Amino acid sequence: MKTEELKNLLSEENKNSYLFEKMLSFYGNNSSCLAQQKTRIHALLKKISGAVNNKNIFLVHAPGRTNLIGEHTDYNGYPVMPMAINRDILVCASVLEKSVINISNIDEEFAARSFSIDENIQPYAGGDWGNYVKAAIAGLLPLVREKNGRAIGFNAVYSGIIPPAGGLSSSSAMVVASALTFLRANNVEIAKIELAEILARAERFVGTEGGGMDQAISLVGEKDKAVKIDFFPLRAVPLALPKNYEIVICNSLVRAPKTEAAMLEYNRRPVECRLAAALIAKSLENFSGHRIATQRLVDVDQRKIDIDGESYKKAVTEALNPPVLSAEQMWEKLALSQNNLNEKYLRLKSGKLFVPPADGFKVGLRYEHVLSEAHRVEQAAQALQRGDVAEFGKLMNASHESCRSNYEISTPELDKLVEIARDHGAIGARLTGAGFGGCTVNLVPQNDVDAFIQGVIKDYYQDYLPAARPDIQFNKKDLGSIIFSSSAVAGAEVMEE
Ligand code: GLA
Repeated sequence: MKTEELKNLLSEENKNSYLFEKMLSFYGNNSSCLAQQKTRIHALLKKISGAVNNKNIFLVHAPGRTNLIGEHTDYNGYPVMPMAINRDILVCASVLEKSVINISNIDEEFAARSFSIDENIQPYAGGDWGNYVKAAIAGLLPLVREKNGRAIGFNAVYSGIIPPAGGLSSSSAMVVASALTFLRANNVEIAKIELAEILARAERFVGTEGGGMDQAISLVGEKDKAVKIDFFPLRAVPLALPKNYEIVICNSLVRAPKTEAAMLEYNRRPVECRLAAALIAKSLENFSGHRIATQRLVDVDQRKIDIDGESYKKAVTEALNPPVLSAEQMWEKLALSQNNLNEKYLRLKSGKLFVPPADGFKVGLRYEHVLSEAHRVEQAAQALQRGDVAEFGKLMNASHESCRSNYEISTPELDKLVEIARDHGAIGARLTGAGFGGCTVNLVPQNDVDAFIQGVIKDYYQDYLPAARPDIQFNKKDLGSIIFSSSAVAGAEVMEE
């Protein structure tokens, strides 16, 4: 489509066009939000027109997410329950008849980038936004080449409104948006679930050991629904959210970028969980006499092991005693040389070697969190099905407590924000996403949302934060994107008729 045609579709006379329909399912039926989206699309059209001389263009949308419950369970093979939110990455692109990708961003802080599509795509320096685009291209290149024999690129302009480093998956939305743009440019079609699996692996290009939640929900999000997602293999079950309640997201304003110290701390958790699984497998082998193949905690779940309940419990208790182990204790307990331990458990998917933490591998606490959190996700799904909002809220609160004390991924600011939220009427409040900063997610009765937001603004952003963290600056006029309510929206798509 030509830019002029797209502009026309956005005009008032075309209120019934497919584009309007898409916008409603992506951003919710909120007039000021829709007006903002139109302005955004106009800005994209303006920027791309200069670059591509009114060639055929298309739009791609990929939403961020908030996780309602099920934190750090995905890479252990246990379920999560996120929803896609009305903050997204929007891309306006045109196909290039050569193997080159040219990207630019409405936000000029992100410098334009250009790279060739070949099998040896190397990352830019850590933290560069272009790496998320490269991750998608590198991850999909084998598939595109297999289908078409070659891969062509695109010119694209990006616009992102997901707060970065806020635990709302701005990075995965960027990967998903880039992937859909690349597939569309090459006319390759693939089921969303299959694409989510590929992109979960592809994002490891940037060095995090994430599970598959973020890419999956950005793709399979549904309007007004949370989605329970199971892994290995990926399965998604949409669940209606309670009517008369809203999901409010509050940014603690402590940045949790996946590229710095937070990434080290993030990666520590999958390593500790892999070690916990290995210890349990070894102990179960001693009890049962069978060899147990394990990659993740779910592989040593009681439901998967042919052993009586009593012996299972004993085996796990012995495996996780002591609950904190140094690297030396770990070699001994797993009967592995230092080198074997490194290669089997500490080598990250990025190729780097994880350095054992000075305070030991906290396998006991991590196991406690993952197993209890997995159970809470199942209970939360049942609570949604029977419309038990109070129970859902209780489970969210219990999840936060376990994230704080067992998984140690909260911060004093997130704890405070959760406490203030509950004081102002949240039925459930918890940190959302990887943790170490970022946002909280709150379940609030619809009628109380305005009072809730005002209360949190006063207690957290006006009183607490400036006193506790004078180093964190924010602009009052940005509060609308720091604390906001979001309906659950539809997943990523190329916007075409
Ligand atoms: C990050 C990862 C996800 C998941 C969450 C924690 O967002 O990308 O895969 O592990 O942290 O639940």
